[in-house]
Amino acid sequence: MKRINIAIDGHSSCGKGTLAKQLASALGYKFIDSGAMYRAVTLYVLRMDVDPENDDAVHSVLPQISIDFVVNNATGRSDVCLNGENVEKEIRTLRIANSVSQIARIPSVRRFLVMLQQKMGADKGVVMDGRDIGTVVFPDAELKIFMTANPEVRALRRFNELTENGIKTTYEEVLANLKQRDHIDSSRSDSPLTMTSDYRLLDNSDLSREEQFSQALKWVEEALGNKI
Ligand code: DC
Repeated sequence: MKRINIAIDGHSSCGKGTLAKQLASALGYKFIDSGAMYRAVTLYVLRMDVDPENDDAVHSVLPQISIDFVVNNATGRSDVCLNGENVEKEIRTLRIANSVSQIARIPSVRRFLVMLQQKMGADKGVVMDGRDIGTVVFPDAELKIFMTANPEVRALRRFNELTENGIKTTYEEVLANLKQRDHIDSSRSDSPLTMTSDYRLLDNSDLSREEQFSQALKWVEEALGNKI
């Protein structure tokens, strides 16, 4: 049966990972969270006391980093590993969120991770979410989805999620972090977040998870050229 690669790009905290996981599990594909890879590099840089604004210093520690994914038997999901250590929890903190866009703007970091991502998708059957998956990582992906939602809706969803997980923060702080990340992600010179004409736009401000999933599945059917 024909297998395709699916690229899901878009703004921070609009549910790209949720949709990517749903699609991967429905299709029996591999889900890869490319943002987790940028977060893992950020964690390493901070642990080594390297200044995220110093491109040369960050570049020089890249050869010390290996990143892969392992299946977490408790959740059934893929967790990201940094040099063999499962860091899935640690990369989701605000400390990492506040520095990751700085790290993701550095060209040598992007080249390093894009190469790894392309290897992961070489045999097709991958759903990968991020910012540059359809433009840089898999420019020939058979289906490209661009997800967005208005910032207030995204900040509220993210705030509720963090609060439910016992992380202390305020709605205002989450909104400010999200707007700052949107700005850096869209305005950086290397691989900025952009929607080209070959993307399908999915604005989920007013959509339920089920509605967006069924829309995406229709696009998958079209991309496969048959019913699944
Ligand atoms: O999707 P996320 O919030 O986990 O991504 C974390 C950061 O990494 C985000 O600020 C943008 C960056 N990123 C990127 O530049 N390119 C990707 N393919 C994925 C994430």
